[in-house]
Amino acid sequence: MLQKFKRNFSIIAHIDHGKSTIADRLLQVTGTVSERDMKAQVLDSMDLEREKGITIKAQAVTLYYDAKDGNRYELNLIDTPGHVDFIYEVSRSLAACEGAILVVDAAQGVEAQTLANVYLALENDLEVVPVINKIDLPAADVDKVKNEIEDVIGLPADDAVLTSAKAGIGIEELLEAIIERIPAPEHQEEGPLKALIFDSHFDDYRGVITYVRVLDGCIKKGDKIKIWSTGKELEILECGVFSPVMKSTGELSSGSVGYIITGVKTIQDTQVGDTITHAKKPCAEPLQGYRPAQSMVYAGLYPISTDDYSDLRDALEKLQLNDASLSFVPETSLALGFGFRCGFLGLLHMEIIVERLRREYNIDLISTSPSVEYRVHMENGSSYTIDNPCEFPEAGSGKKAVEEPFIKGNILVPKDYVGNVMELCQEKRGVFIDMNYIDENRAMITYELPLAEIVIDFYDKLKSRTRGYASFEYEMIGYKESKLVKVDILVSGNPVDAFSFISHADHASSRGRAICEKLKEIIPRQQFEIPIQAALGAKIIARETIRAFRKNVTAKCYGGDITRKKKLLEKQKEGKKRMKQIGNVEIPQEAFVSVLKLN
Ligand code: GTP
Repeated sequence: MLQKFKRNFSIIAHIDHGKSTIADRLLQVTGTVSERDMKAQVLDSMDLEREKGITIKAQAVTLYYDAKDGNRYELNLIDTPGHVDFIYEVSRSLAACEGAILVVDAAQGVEAQTLANVYLALENDLEVVPVINKIDLPAADVDKVKNEIEDVIGLPADDAVLTSAKAGIGIEELLEAIIERIPAPEHQEEGPLKALIFDSHFDDYRGVITYVRVLDGCIKKGDKIKIWSTGKELEILECGVFSPVMKSTGELSSGSVGYIITGVKTIQDTQVGDTITHAKKPCAEPLQGYRPAQSMVYAGLYPISTDDYSDLRDALEKLQLNDASLSFVPETSLALGFGFRCGFLGLLHMEIIVERLRREYNIDLISTSPSVEYRVHMENGSSYTIDNPCEFPEAGSGKKAVEEPFIKGNILVPKDYVGNVMELCQEKRGVFIDMNYIDENRAMITYELPLAEIVIDFYDKLKSRTRGYASFEYEMIGYKESKLVKVDILVSGNPVDAFSFISHADHASSRGRAICEKLKEIIPRQQFEIPIQAALGAKIIARETIRAFRKNVTAKCYGGDITRKKKLLEKQKEGKKRMKQIGNVEIPQEAFVSVLKLN
């Protein structure tokens, strides 16, 4: 098909504004999926995505639309993830498009995430088509939202398309707007091949499926291609489009979006953002902006039962097949035994992986408190990075300074909650940068914050202190020096490595105390006294004591029948299995979990 009949676009929106529902409608109206196959949210195929109501991976689908001008168009819809953790994937998927549909909820209006994504689209020179969705809602206020789009984003909104994806209103109009307003690709049809990898996934039967957008030239089955960053040469075994299932076409021409299969074994070989060209006649230079996936948040994952260790490794390997941004290396903890140190894009990413391990692979696990990557500078001029509190240099080891990663966060919030948000940011060691009222009701507050403070419970706290009205978006701005210390927790004098954490010096005592108090509640009394202490090196900064006590589970059935006594003792034994022995103290599994929540 000629380039002038192609349109490549993505849909950007704040979470829950209706992106997936609109995508489903487009598939349905263009007959890409039959009514019979129409399952809500075809594009969000993972169960967990469906449940959490979020889009995790970018996906693509090709639609054919017979427009009012009598021509047939090829529309390539690239679905983008909606969460800040996946911002790099969003930016790469946007680079595969000429236009973007900006979906704004008619009742909620513009949100922080909407802004972040629109700026990304504008940076990529995309034509943005505003769509106001959910016009069926009683609370919909189209004029107000139009004003917001104009004032806050600075896009003309007079000709915004009005839709109700739920009721199927405005979908034809949207398709026509895509054709009229989004420019057709303009590349060199004959030139040396230049194609962008914008996603990839591992299919159990077919191997790695790589999602590409062809710019110049054309990919054909049998071609020998080269991956720019690695120089690896591969043969195209198959290529085609998603409509919505894979359909082999034998060729992908200039301006098209589709998939290639090359027989590579892992998606690490075809990373998002990389350039593909012909091995024999390569293009002169690669596409801009490629960077390998990078973890931001680290945590140890430990199986509760040591028997599950090899299962956990297999499961992580499988998940990694589909997720180039997940990394893991074996690690051992005195308290938790054998496990893996894993790297994630962010906290949501971590939650999703842990949940999938539990659900899809049936592995019960404990995760240690999430940590970021710190840079340690030594007196002798050397420096290194650590992502595990256990590696933190001890006092007297010649440490000069420790740096931690900082982010710039934008929080959009109704004016009544401005005070609460600022209070929270201050508690989290934030540095105030700026505040602007975007309309009479809402303010955009900008803070610089340490990433470590964000990864634990910032979202949750932000939500609860603003009754869910705040939206948040952030970008990394680099490393800065902080007064950081490692706090150890000792149970009966023994340090429990899984409880150790890195903290700002000013927060060390209060956090240490909170953990000691929590452990006192959770660790059952035993026959001897158990001191629980928080320590900075050799200095104890907090202490609680669990008094001695013998739990006699059979006490309440004196004289009673022996089988009942046995049962109770059995039960106690079972309970003990779920404890970790630290020195002479048994710590229940739940202690590890609840301490994480405290941090
Ligand atoms: P993420 O995948 O998390 O980014 O969300 P999304 O933007 O894809 O939102 P989704 O399509 O999942 O819709 C969120 C919710 O809004 C769902 O419960 C939809 O049923 C509902 N919804 C979508 N469009 C409309 C609409 O036009 N009217 C009404 N009333 N509800 C809608």
